[in-house]
Order: sequence, then C-alpha cells, then structure tokens
Amino acid sequence: MKIVLRKADPDDVFELTTLFRETVSHINSRDYSEEQIKHWISSADDIPKWEKRIKSWYFIVAESGKTIVGFAYLNDGNYFDGLFVHHKYQGKGIATLLADRIEKQAETNGFDSVHSDVSLTARKFFEKRGYTIEALQQKTFRGMIFENYIVSKKF
Ligand SMILES: CC(C)(COP(=O)(O)OP(=O)(O)OC[C@H]1O[C@@H](n2cnc3c(N)ncnc32)[C@H](O)[C@@H]1OP(=O)(O)O)[C@@H](O)C(=O)NCCC(=O)NCCS
Repeated sequence: MKIVLRKADPDDVFELTTLFRETVSHINSRDYSEEQIKHWISSADDIPKWEKRIKSWYFIVAESGKTIVGFAYLNDGNYFDGLFVHHKYQGKGIATLLADRIEKQAETNGFDSVHSDVSLTARKFFEKRGYTIEALQQKTFRGMIFENYIVSKKF
C-alpha cells in the first residue's frame, strides 16, 4: 500500500471529521465509556474550528490513492495536538509515518522536544516511539472528565 503525506486542505474537512468520528467510535471506545465517546465525537461538528486548524497549524494527511487514511497536526511549534488513523487502516504503519513527519517539523521549528496529551488508547504507540509518560491527568471537555497522559520526547 502506497501512502503519500501532504498538507491538509480546507476542502478535506468533511473527510477528516468523518474519519475522526469513526476512529473515535471504533477504536477509542475500547478505553472510554459510551457517554465519553459521544461527547468526544461531538467536537467534529464544529467545522469552522477544524477549518481554522487546517489553515493555521501544521496539519498533514496520509493518503492511499484518493482516500485519507490518517491525519496529524502540530500546534505552537512543538505541541503534537492530534493523531488519528482510519479505523480500517490501523496497524499498517500510517501513524508512524505521520508522527515521523510531525517530529521532524517540530525540529525544523527549532525545538529540541515535542510534547502532547494522548489518549489511553495511544499510550503504547507513543511509548514505543520513545515518549516519556509524565503524568496521567483528568481533563474536562464540555463538562465531562477524560483521562489521558501528558507525554514528551526529547530529540
Ligand atoms: C494510536 C494510533 C494513532 C496508532 O496508529 P497505527 O497506524 O495503527 O500505528 P502504527 O501502525 O504506525 O504502529 C506503530 C507501532 O505501534 C504499535 N501500536 C499502535 N497502536 C497500538 C496500541 N493501541 N497498542 C499497542 N501497540 C500499538 C504497533 O503495533 C506498532 O508496533 P511495531 O512497530 O512493533 O509493529 C491509532 O490506533 C489511532 O488512530 N487510535 C485512535 C486515536 C487516538 O487515540 N489518537 C491518539 C491521540 S489522542
């Protein structure tokens, strides 16, 4: 399977938010309650917010042919803010390609480390990449508490 990385375009917004909803529903539902998942996917409805992320941040997509199979974004130079892989394309190295590019960009931006808040689901992926788990935190999103990890990696 040939995967191509490119910058996201505002025209991708509906495909990206659909991928996000489906990945959270199918994959993150292993570690979060039904109610938490419902809250989480509701953030896909704020299309202007996603368009702003695409335009303002370092936002990249992974494509297989014409299908977007994953995406990732970097904010504030070295904050690895999002990483989602299509639920039907898990375990094929797509997140690895995206994370390699995001970390490279953080380095290009002049930083010697990258940091993130990651889901319980993604913990193993980030540990495998050499990230340090700094803390387990409880984050409130739209009135609901979510547990996740604060992680970082030094280059
Ligand atoms: C976490 C996630 C991004 C990984 O994507 P992926 O494309 O399947 O990851 P890769 O195929 O590049 O995996 C790289 C390595 O991490 C391992 N890995 C990935 N997810 C894992 C998991 N949940 N548990 C254990 N190992 C995992 C893979 O087995 C692989 O190991 P290997 O190199 O020894 O073969 C994906 O599962 C996902 O979209 N999760 C839901 C969204 C999410 O939680 N995002 C995190 C930010 S909030």
